Amino acid sequence: MAISLTINGQAVQVTAPAETPLLWVLRDELMLTGTKYGCGIAQCGACTVHINGQATKSCQTPVGSLDGMAITTIEQFGGNHPLQSAWVRHDVPQCGYCQSGQIMAAAALLSHTPKPTDADIDAAMAGNICRCGTYQRVRAAIKDAAGNQG
Ligand code: FES
Ligand code: FES
Repeated sequence: MAISLTINGQAVQVTAPAETPLLWVLRDELMLTGTKYGCGIAQCGACTVHINGQATKSCQTPVGSLDGMAITTIEQFGGNHPLQSAWVRHDVPQCGYCQSGQIMAAAALLSHTPKPTDADIDAAMAGNICRCGTYQRVRAAIKDAAGNQG
């Protein structure tokens, strides 16, 4: 039976087996390759998307558990999200591999906490690993996007 999802505002019917990780449906079925595979075991955050507005690791989320839910991926932002402008201003990425996951985690944070403290940022971003060590620039860009340089 098809699974009904809304992905980036579009109704989508998915026929993959229910246990298929959402990440593979996004990348292999829907060609939304902005969401990355890092570890596959919910430890790195490269695969972060929003499910009903919550930052979620798509590599460990079976698509069958998502019937009727709304998913947002980095493609939805189209380069126009305030975080993406801040990311450019702060020259955040190094290799870039983790960055769509970082931005999705940060976007979920700002959607419910528009003026996050350092502790809020640390808590929200703790599940997103960057092997290039861009953490300080990530934090600065989040604060910039929030209009909070303090
Ligand atoms: S690929 Fe999903 S958390 Fe690493
Ligand atoms: S920028 Fe290289 S892993 Fe984060």
